[in-house]
Amino acid sequence: MLRVDPDRLRADFDALAAIGGTAAGGVNRPTFGDAHLAARAWFLERAAAAGLEAHVDAAGNHSAVLPAAAAGAPTLLLGSHLDSVLDGGRFDGGLGVVAALEALRTVQDARLELPVALEAIDFTDEEGTLVGLLGSWAVTGALSPEVLRAPRGGRDALLAGLARVGLAEERLADARREPGSLAGYLELHIEQGPVLERKGVEIGIVTGIVGSRSFRIRFAGAAAHAGTTPMDVRRDAGLGAAAFVVGVRELVVRAYPGAVATVGNIRLEPGGFNVVPGLAHLALEFRSPDAAQLDALEAALVALAHGLADAHGLEVEIEPVGRWEPTSLDPAVRAAIERAAGALGLSTLELPSGAGHDAQALAAVTPSGMIFVPSRGGVSHRPDEYTAWEDCVNGANVLLGAALELGSSECPFQQ
Ligand code: GLV
Ligand code: MN
Ligand code: MN
Repeated sequence: MLRVDPDRLRADFDALAAIGGTAAGGVNRPTFGDAHLAARAWFLERAAAAGLEAHVDAAGNHSAVLPAAAAGAPTLLLGSHLDSVLDGGRFDGGLGVVAALEALRTVQDARLELPVALEAIDFTDEEGTLVGLLGSWAVTGALSPEVLRAPRGGRDALLAGLARVGLAEERLADARREPGSLAGYLELHIEQGPVLERKGVEIGIVTGIVGSRSFRIRFAGAAAHAGTTPMDVRRDAGLGAAAFVVGVRELVVRAYPGAVATVGNIRLEPGGFNVVPGLAHLALEFRSPDAAQLDALEAALVALAHGLADAHGLEVEIEPVGRWEPTSLDPAVRAAIERAAGALGLSTLELPSGAGHDAQALAAVTPSGMIFVPSRGGVSHRPDEYTAWEDCVNGANVLLGAALELGSSECPFQQ
């Protein structure tokens, strides 16, 4: 049975982790920052060094391609992302990209001729520094002008980022691929949660990915002197923000089982010791695997914000800045992953993903699947995110095995 070269994979993983590496052992590679661009350049160099074709599309997605023998053959995408959250871990996204590259090299070294092209792809801005799933949405044709008008990271940041790397907003959609040109999508990723470790299972087969919505919320009151303004006449925007954070938690815990909600950022203005805050800017995100529950929770959160604004004499503005739908992953791809793991003697468990992934975009246009490997302590989006190396190699071998099955002539998607 064909297997990846674990030493070559490790060398790549370590080299990548050093790009934007932090003292705490993680990486800091927000989209289009210096470290992110260096990681992307490194990826293309590694592809070229392996004799693979390297290219960048109109949405900045970076790819290494092992062409099929026959011209016009469909492409099986293997991917993930090289951007990170602020002060993130080394494994989130990076593992999937280096494993995809290694899978291509392994097939190439074995001189296997597949009826599909294999493409290792690093999608632009998966994490949402700017938009979230920017590159994968562009590939699937889901990147709409509305999304680009009010992106999660702010319109100015998006325009500055695109300008920095020479991408044109009006051309991003040119990255779209015809669904018929794709044979499927596979992604290896760390679980980022505790389930596999707790159950002692080696490989997770992802059943579906949660939906997620992001909102920017602004409470406006009146800035005032912190020493002379009596408590009962204040219109304190910070108080609205604090009450909202507490209220969000209470609401979700009480009435929305299976959902999660987070206020990930609060900025108060003017922001001094001796001034009652006149403005509070909040970043709200909530997730659920169930679209109807997301609708209900959205309505309840909006009502909560309005109710608290009234109670504290504030105005509130609520702006949607991101919407990612709950997604099921393809049963046939899941079965192929199961067989690939079984052939390697690895234990498996089907589980949903609470994190967002590019597979969420790809699943709308091509049969898609995800392979999870255990995360120590379920920790992720932190520098101490960790997956045992043996698990990383197992995941890469399952990725390779599933790709070989899906990319073989028996592949149901080729008919
Ligand atoms: C991406 O990792 C997300 O789930 O936010
Ligand atoms: Mn990720
Ligand atoms: Mn992430």
